[in-house]
Amino acid sequence: MLAIIGGSGLTQLANLAVERREVVRTPYGEPSGPLTFGRLCSQPAIFIARHGYGHTIPPHEVNYCANLWALKQAGATCIVSIASVGSIRADLNPGAIIIPHQIIDYTWGRKSTFHEGGNTPVVHIDFTQPYDSELRLVLLEAAREAGQAVVDGSVYAATPGPRLETAAEINRLERDGADIVGMTGMPEAALARELELPYAAITVVANHAAGRGDSKLSIQFARLEDILRESMEQVRRIIEMICIEGK
Ligand code: HPA
Repeated sequence: MLAIIGGSGLTQLANLAVERREVVRTPYGEPSGPLTFGRLCSQPAIFIARHGYGHTIPPHEVNYCANLWALKQAGATCIVSIASVGSIRADLNPGAIIIPHQIIDYTWGRKSTFHEGGNTPVVHIDFTQPYDSELRLVLLEAAREAGQAVVDGSVYAATPGPRLETAAEINRLERDGADIVGMTGMPEAALARELELPYAAITVVANHAAGRGDSKLSIQFARLEDILRESMEQVRRIIEMICIEGK
């Protein structure tokens, strides 16, 4: 069953025919909110709002472990993350929709593994390809069917937040090879891998990253909401086309 983790700008999925909501407890504490079960174009699906349904949980306070655990317990077999990002690369403008293929993790202080504490054995997951390649292809195909242009591949830099970056930090991320920057991609992707849940992301560029394009001097928050509102409509159309038969 497909699970969707909605980010900023997508706290509800209008195209999900809601059947029930369920509060789930996990050994890792409370998820960001109840899980919403429903049907997405006749397929069963689960939705959770990463920042809570009232958008009150900042990136560094999201209980990523509880969210992933709850989704797995509820029967999710793959996870599609929706997230907004800042663009570092000059050719990626606000509104662009990107299916990233790589991650660089700059976050710290977040619980980032299920395998710690007590007498649990040491586990090292393979994370060479952080996003599931088959699920990425499903998303690219869904975008094609929806007639929605998307960028195939980019390197996602996960920063701690909640503050945005300095211009010098963005220059450093670019030197490191990052194309886009967001605050929630990690440890979410790694935790999904630990639970053997295929995971891929649809990211929406909300703004030029600090010091770039029209964010040269500062980031204009007023414009972000409008951009996200429009682009999330396009993301919804892509989500409607996701076909995960057999997954
Ligand atoms: N930086 C980090 N996270 C973000 C940004 C950004 O510029 N835009 C949206 N999420």
